[in-house]
Amino acid sequence: MNMASMWILLVILISIGHAKTESMSLDCRAEQLGQYGQQSLLECVIKTTQNDLRVRVVSWKKANLALLVFYKGKITKEDGFSFAQPSWNDRNMNVSLLITNTTVKHEGRYTCLVMTNVGEKVEAISFKVTAKYSNPTIVSSPKAITPKTDGTLTCESNGGYPKHQLRWFDEDNKELTSDAPTEAKQTDGGLFQLSSRLVVGKESSVSKYICGVFNASGGREEETPFLVKYAPKTEELEQRKELDMSTKIVAPVVVIGSLIAGLLFALLVYRKRSQKIRRPSTAPLMGGHLGVPTVDVEEGDDKYPDNVA
Ligand SMILES: *[C@@H]1O[C@H](CO)[C@@H](O)[C@H](O)[C@H]1NC(C)=O
Ligand SMILES: *[C@@H]1O[C@H](CO)[C@@H](O)[C@H](O)[C@H]1NC(C)=O
Repeated sequence: MNMASMWILLVILISIGHAKTESMSLDCRAEQLGQYGQQSLLECVIKTTQNDLRVRVVSWKKANLALLVFYKGKITKEDGFSFAQPSWNDRNMNVSLLITNTTVKHEGRYTCLVMTNVGEKVEAISFKVTAKYSNPTIVSSPKAITPKTDGTLTCESNGGYPKHQLRWFDEDNKELTSDAPTEAKQTDGGLFQLSSRLVVGKESSVSKYICGVFNASGGREEETPFLVKYAPKTEELEQRKELDMSTKIVAPVVVIGSLIAGLLFALLVYRKRSQKIRRPSTAPLMGGHLGVPTVDVEEGDDKYPDNVA
């Protein structure tokens, strides 16, 4: 074989190899997101110009564990995994993987290998899972906070993934997180329980605290405000006690006083009424006895004899 024919053979071999790889490709989204408790799709589609393409092998793996395999015309799969296309066959270019119930364990790096009559390809996919945190709850201990005995506010948010941070703010949006680190506990299912304790009372002027759940990129996902109930200050308490005492003294005085006043009034009314009652009853009598004869006498003698007759 001379040099020229070697070159020609090489060119032919390269072009065949090139044509083979060009005749099919595997399109996968390199980074895919799934939601905890939902279905997730790891999308991979064969692209080809050949219309007689037949799939011979599909192998979806995660860390060398085969999850879904099509080989020699048969599909074998692990629980919870399947082809996204319900009636997938070797002429179907959509080899996407479906995870039926996404959990934290599904997170990781997947590979999809496809072998066909016109070529083969393997692609890697990074799969991330998210779970929404609950609205934070805030509990105050003690229920009413005094400036002298510091209290704590405990903020909690659960059931989220990945790990987030709890951050505190006052009513003017000033951040107070520096002395309130977030504690994160991971449950068996992989979800996080966050809690953060903030010592309050020193700044008794703050009446509203806000606890927010922040993701890794600093986005606020949830927040809950908390209105602080301050116990009255000691001077205020004493003033209130004095006030209470005086009302305790004043109250009976007022009651007794009004009772006395009422009695006096009743007595006065009774007296007046009894005078009034006596007056109308006595006046005519007196008028009858004394008034009539005198008037009659004064007016003339004629009337008196008429009246009598
Ligand atoms: C592949 O199939 C799945 C399930 O039917 C579908 O949601 C997805 O859009 C398909 N992808 C393409 C590129 O057709
Ligand atoms: C973080 O939260 C913000 C605001 O809710 C959101 O827009 C963003 O997509 C989140 N980022 C990540 C990485 O989840």
